[in-house]
Amino acid sequence: MIKTTGYAAQHAGATLAPFEFEHRELGARDILIEILYCGVCHSDVHQARGDWGAKIFPMVPGHEIVGYVSRVGREVARYKVGDSVGVGCMVDSCRQCASCHEHLEQFCVEGFTATYNGLERERGTPTRGGYANYIVVSEDFVLRIPPKADLASTAPLLCAGITTYSPMRHWNVGAGQKVAVIGLGGLGHMAVKIAAAFGAEVTLFTRSNAKHDDALRLGASKVVISTDDVAMVAQKNQFDFILDTVAAPHDINAHLQTLKRDGVMVMVGIPADSIPLYSRSLIGGRRILAGSMIGGVAETQEMLDFCAKHNISSDIELINIQDINEAYERMDKADVKYRFVIDMASLQTEKP
Ligand SMILES: NC(=O)c1ccc[n+]([C@@H]2O[C@H](COP(=O)([O-])OP(=O)(O)OC[C@H]3O[C@@H](n4cnc5c(N)ncnc54)[C@H](OP(=O)(O)O)[C@@H]3O)[C@@H](O)[C@H]2O)c1
Ligand SMILES: [Zn+2]
Ligand SMILES: [Zn+2]
Repeated sequence: MIKTTGYAAQHAGATLAPFEFEHRELGARDILIEILYCGVCHSDVHQARGDWGAKIFPMVPGHEIVGYVSRVGREVARYKVGDSVGVGCMVDSCRQCASCHEHLEQFCVEGFTATYNGLERERGTPTRGGYANYIVVSEDFVLRIPPKADLASTAPLLCAGITTYSPMRHWNVGAGQKVAVIGLGGLGHMAVKIAAAFGAEVTLFTRSNAKHDDALRLGASKVVISTDDVAMVAQKNQFDFILDTVAAPHDINAHLQTLKRDGVMVMVGIPADSIPLYSRSLIGGRRILAGSMIGGVAETQEMLDFCAKHNISSDIELINIQDINEAYERMDKADVKYRFVIDMASLQTEKP
């Protein structure tokens, strides 16, 4: 067994505190990763608080993991000790269903095994995530970090990057299109960067003027204040594609009106409560409302390589793990520019 130190919530809503646990001993195709950095996703906040259905405590969150290969199982072929690698939201899936065969493991019919707050398929033991010094993962779910990439600012690509890249690839976002992103947080700021790199004209919907200059710097050409009803009406029938990254209940009908005929709005945010949908927001323009969840392993690698080629990484605030609870509170207030990343070196200074 691999002795591991991390931070866990002992029950829903508990503050995160030091926690010792064990990962499984390496199987033939497993990799032991020494974690250097882990991004802090709003999904970590939701799950540590028990906002969604399944919850397994104690919970060690974290699914934007970057580190070095520290040891490999005897049949591991693709990675060697010292390689820079990443792990995203999944660590396993059935590997046999149609979705798994089509490299869409996130839609595995048996449900993918989440990096944390999940159960290992073979042993049934809880999975524990990246707010820790080690993780053990099958090589099939390990990503290669491109050479020269900055490790800390690449970590958020493992969830925020792929979650925004995948729907834009699926719906063929590109040059000549008008794209809008709702919310400038971890996902939103990656969406702005990636949509701009795809050649689209990007507009940001945000609740106040506070992030205006940042949005333009990140690649948007326009900012619309979503709390200004007049400004919203002026945007009617403008966009080919909208990505909604908001983490809390909000008025999606006002945003749907801004789609062109046959336009698509994709929800990736997962508020804890349901949101009213008026059918007239859709039927007037034959508009489409869809959802999307992270991305498959192969597409995550494609995204990492795309971002390296286009010099895209996350705008981060590096924090010590001791500051994680304060980081969650700041995320409640959307006070993060634009992703917290935990520097795991801070774990070593932890007093027993
Ligand atoms: N589908 C997936 O596979 C997937 C993957 C990862 C995360 N998620 C989910 O995506 C959501 C966003 O995650 P994140 O890490 O990007 O969160 P985040 O960094 O906290 O950003 C969320 C943004 O939403 C906006 N917002 C927050 N509260 C709002 C409210 N009450 N009304 C309107 N806008 C509000 C804010 O933007 P402004 O300040 O600009 O208004 C904020 O920056 C979460 O629900 C998360 O669980 C889904
Ligand atoms: Zn996430
Ligand atoms: Zn499957």
